[in-house]
Amino acid sequence: MAQGALFDEPAQQGIVALGPEARVLRGFALPWVDRLLAALAEVERAAPPRHMLTPGGLAMSVANTNCGALGWVSDRRGYRYSATDPQSGQPWPAMPAAFAELALAAAAAAGFADYAPDACLINHYRPGTRLSLHQDKDERDHRAPIVSVSLGMPAVFLFGGLARADKALRVPLQHGDVVVWGGVDRLRFHGVLPLKELPHPLLGAERINLTLRQAG
Ligand code: SIN
Ligand code: FE2
Repeated sequence: MAQGALFDEPAQQGIVALGPEARVLRGFALPWVDRLLAALAEVERAAPPRHMLTPGGLAMSVANTNCGALGWVSDRRGYRYSATDPQSGQPWPAMPAAFAELALAAAAAAGFADYAPDACLINHYRPGTRLSLHQDKDERDHRAPIVSVSLGMPAVFLFGGLARADKALRVPLQHGDVVVWGGVDRLRFHGVLPLKELPHPLLGAERINLTLRQAG
């Protein structure tokens, strides 16, 4: 299936359509990278990444943390959003301006106006780390899109359908790519294949994904 030619709209350079309201914006985050990484270091001094437990009691393969008014957490009680970091008992670090600016610009470029993300989940992947197929549905309102920023090592993003068994597109993502999905595509299953060891000049053997959401 030729991606980019799936939907009834003129192909734009650097933009790949994964669905009627889902886009990959190739390299969109590159102009923001220096600011993103500086802000990220500050966020993670206050809220270091950790392997949260799944409701089944296993440590997640990705290490994560959050910034913004709300943070996504997982433990034996389940998945939910919390205003505080369970590890420190403190509010999550504020959403850095660079994160919010990039998210707004990416949402707009994908056709979503008036985006106001209040949560950013920060995922750290190492070689072998994977993220199994899931839907993002812990947010209160499913109208706003998800904005997902890839940094560091490349990965293969799986973008499936509204049912877990639907065939998933395999979308290679590079440093600086941004994926935006909302509207009719908002609840599509997605995940990440186990990462290969392909170290990145800036981040070494690591991939960092920023997932911005309007959660509250
Ligand atoms: C996620 O679904 O939370 C992250 C997706 C990614 O790492 O690209
Ligand atoms: Fe997700």
